[in-house]
Amino acid sequence: MGTVTGDDRFIELDDVEKVFQVRRRVGLLRRERHEVRAVDGIGFRVARGEMVGYIGPNGAGKSTTIKMLTGILTPSGGRLRVAGIDPSRERTRLAHRIGVVFGQRTTLWWDLPLRDSYRLMHRMYRIPDRRYRENLDRCVELLDLGALLEVPVRQLSLGQRMRGDIAAALLHDPEVLYLDEPTIGLDVISKARVRQFLKELNAERGTTVLLTTHDLTDIEQLCRRVMVIDHGRLMYDGSLAGLHEAGASERMLVIDLERELPPIALEPVPGVEPGAQPVLRTVKVEGPRQWLAFPASASAAPLVARIAAAYPLVDLSVREPDIEAVIARMYASGS
Ligand SMILES: Nc1ncnc2c1ncn2[C@@H]1O[C@H](COP(=O)(O)OP(=O)(O)OP(=O)(O)O)[C@@H](O)[C@H]1O
Ligand SMILES: [Mg+2]
Repeated sequence: MGTVTGDDRFIELDDVEKVFQVRRRVGLLRRERHEVRAVDGIGFRVARGEMVGYIGPNGAGKSTTIKMLTGILTPSGGRLRVAGIDPSRERTRLAHRIGVVFGQRTTLWWDLPLRDSYRLMHRMYRIPDRRYRENLDRCVELLDLGALLEVPVRQLSLGQRMRGDIAAALLHDPEVLYLDEPTIGLDVISKARVRQFLKELNAERGTTVLLTTHDLTDIEQLCRRVMVIDHGRLMYDGSLAGLHEAGASERMLVIDLERELPPIALEPVPGVEPGAQPVLRTVKVEGPRQWLAFPASASAAPLVARIAAAYPLVDLSVREPDIEAVIARMYASGS
């Protein structure tokens, strides 16, 4: 009660750490203790209503962060607040205000039909009847759960269960939704449906969303802001476009020539400083087709015009930078 939180720092982390003490067997009898610094001094703010991607390689510390944000894990150091609440100290109070989906495991009751799991949550969270019914109806419609409500959770496919889990996380109108790999193992159609649902949830209800995923299309379609974590540290926090720049991202011209020719090389434009001219890099030549990389920040049109003037061009296309490659480069250079 009475906790005042600025909406611009709805989620707030300062120098947060999580160190696990693990005992490793060395030899037959001896065990060695050592520390795993899963989260190693992370700080960020998320404003109310933001939808932020939280990405990084396996073991980077993403799930550990989310567990601290829900209060499941207590930080070893630093300060953490969600809606002004210290999650590990007031986990129950916070539970009424947050929703969480762990793609890797379910929060539903394994042997119960979906509908019964939802009824239990109705009680647990003391959701007003009308609100509950409205939210359930909405989730059932948008996540296409109608035919699944009477099916025991253990009989659901992964994608069906995931949609069931997302609904479960939202019945009590949480202000924040943490999603830890919500599209893992989903087919293309289910992924699209889940993304659309999240987009609407964020737009219409203003739900704050923190999204962890290995599918970068999720991020491209949902998040204007993305944070990259590696080895427990924040490597990047900014726009997706900025991430491309940070990874020195390139676009690709795919050129079809009339016949097989040596790699395309353009004469420098007279009167323009060499450093100011975009560099074309031949990536591959396959018969009459050539792949040419150029900086993503450069405009394609003048390059195309110059190629067309100097070469017998039949067809061409421009490929957008592959964010996957950008991030792989970033992970590689960061560690
Ligand atoms: N309960 C635990 N005890 C000991 N070590 C742990 C524990 N939980 C996580 N770790 C370690 O902490 C590090 C971060 O794990 P975490 O699960 O946060 O990674 P992640 O970024 O979610 O990775 P992934 O993409 O594989 O899900 C890993 O090295 C992991 O082995
Ligand atoms: Mg994880």
